Amino acid sequence: MQQIVVRAETPEDVRAIDVVNLSAFEGEAEAQLVSALRETVEFNRELSLVAELNGRIVGHVLLTRVPLRSGGNEKIVLALGPMSVVPSQSHRGIGSELIQTAIRLARDKGYGAIVVLGHPDYYLRFGFSPADRWQITCNLPAPEDALTAMELVNDNLGSGGHVEYPHPFKALYRE
Ligand SMILES: CC(C)(COP(=O)(O)OP(=O)(O)OC[C@H]1O[C@@H](n2cnc3c(N)ncnc32)[C@H](O)[C@@H]1OP(=O)(O)O)[C@@H](O)C(=O)NCCC(=O)NCCS
Repeated sequence: MQQIVVRAETPEDVRAIDVVNLSAFEGEAEAQLVSALRETVEFNRELSLVAELNGRIVGHVLLTRVPLRSGGNEKIVLALGPMSVVPSQSHRGIGSELIQTAIRLARDKGYGAIVVLGHPDYYLRFGFSPADRWQITCNLPAPEDALTAMELVNDNLGSGGHVEYPHPFKALYRE
């Protein structure tokens, strides 16, 4: 397989990331979400990863800092998503490379856990578990089994809690 380079996004990548999201998802909601998140304080370019193949951006994954609230306590964890690979390059391991790099990055930066809303079958293979294992819920009306989580630090999710996705994510779940 040709070599895939996964790296943090730069300002020059914004249009290419938009194209990747538009081509991978039906509709514009995820592309619009990424654009909207760039305008928020939660956005950190170092946590937005692109996959390059022969110098072209073919995949993207975003990590967003989100509060996990439990009782009167709050900690910051990372929410992974959206994630996208252009259809012409899917099923070649690019998505897996993006997720594994995102997990390493999160661990290196000292975050205690990652949560994901998405197809559980896809994420369980990377070590995510159903979030109800820790009694973790979130503020988005997604199917219950769509929320998975991974501890990067032992017992980080032990007290469970409620994840507050920032406002732009709500557009993905509008009825
Ligand atoms: C999901 C996605 C990022 C995977 O990227 P990828 O580069 O094809 O992933 P990999 O090659 O590492 O892994 C492919 C495997 O993922 C699994 N997979 C892919 N899409 C899946 C989905 N929607 N649900 C469950 N599993 C899925 C399959 O088991 C596939 O295995 P196969 O190649 O043997 O069929 C890509 O297909 C995509 O952009 N899809 C559209 C957008 C999307 O659904 N994003 C994720 C939101 S949760």
